[in-house]
Amino acid sequence: MTERAEAIAVRDLRKRFGALEVLRGISLTAHEGDVIAIIGGSGSGKSTFLRCINMLETPSSGSVAIRGEAIALKGDGHGGLAPSNRRQVQRLRARLGMVFQSFNLWQHMTIIQNVIEAPVHVLGVPRAEAMERGEALLRRVGLFEKRDVYPSFLSGGQQQRAAIARALAVQPHAMLFDEPTSALDPELVGEVLGVIGDLAKEKRTMILVTHEMKFARNVASHIVFLAQGVIEEQGPPEQIFGDPRSERLRKFISSVH
Ligand SMILES: Nc1ncnc2c1ncn2[C@@H]1O[C@H](COP(=O)(O)OP(=O)(O)OP(=O)(O)O)[C@@H](O)[C@H]1O
Ligand SMILES: [Mg+2]
Repeated sequence: MTERAEAIAVRDLRKRFGALEVLRGISLTAHEGDVIAIIGGSGSGKSTFLRCINMLETPSSGSVAIRGEAIALKGDGHGGLAPSNRRQVQRLRARLGMVFQSFNLWQHMTIIQNVIEAPVHVLGVPRAEAMERGEALLRRVGLFEKRDVYPSFLSGGQQQRAAIARALAVQPHAMLFDEPTSALDPELVGEVLGVIGDLAKEKRTMILVTHEMKFARNVASHIVFLAQGVIEEQGPPEQIFGDPRSERLRKFISSVH
């Protein structure tokens, strides 16, 4: 079997905010087709880690590479780092589909406008082609009928499915999900997890921060447990949930069940 390519490779990532070192040396590789779930307590650095991957936060040290291309960083003159090539960051970020907890749809645009915005204005896809693909994506997530509606007229679950369609529209190299269901009413969680589960079955590369342990266990190929800014334990779901080694992980699992 041929080795799968590295979609995202993070090496010894550190991030500090002032005196607080939030990430303390994290290395993690997502190969094409991996579905990596990141779990851990509040404040353990999960969101910061995702945000460093697409450079919404700049690492204090360490490296991030997307499809083998390292993001170029230079000293910022204050002992930290800054991207040395803005256009590289824009180009790489444009192909990472990020889905946040709070939907983040553009409220002044209809659903289909949200979906075609980045393809047309960032990636230069002809409008007609972007529309056709966008409508197909909305059909896929069950929102074709809502394409000309503004986000505020949709339920939370529908908005999040629209946000997923928008993320898919850039034909992402990988998708990053940050607790995509935690802002939803319980009865709407299932429809969003259903869409993400389908993407996992298609073997789309994704890194998913979630507190839905059952879901993580069912869809992830690999689980990473973050605690206090380091990977405390990682492995296949059966091991992490069935035979956790560290005391911290054991406590965490029993606290969320
Ligand atoms: N921009 C920032 N400035 C200062 N501190 C920050 C900033 N962003 C995050 N932090 C701090 O970094 C730590 C990790 O935050 P982060 O949001 O990554 O945690 P998390 O694991 O995603 O938590 P949660 O499960 O609550 O979402 C927290 O102590 C947080 O207060
Ligand atoms: Mg978070």
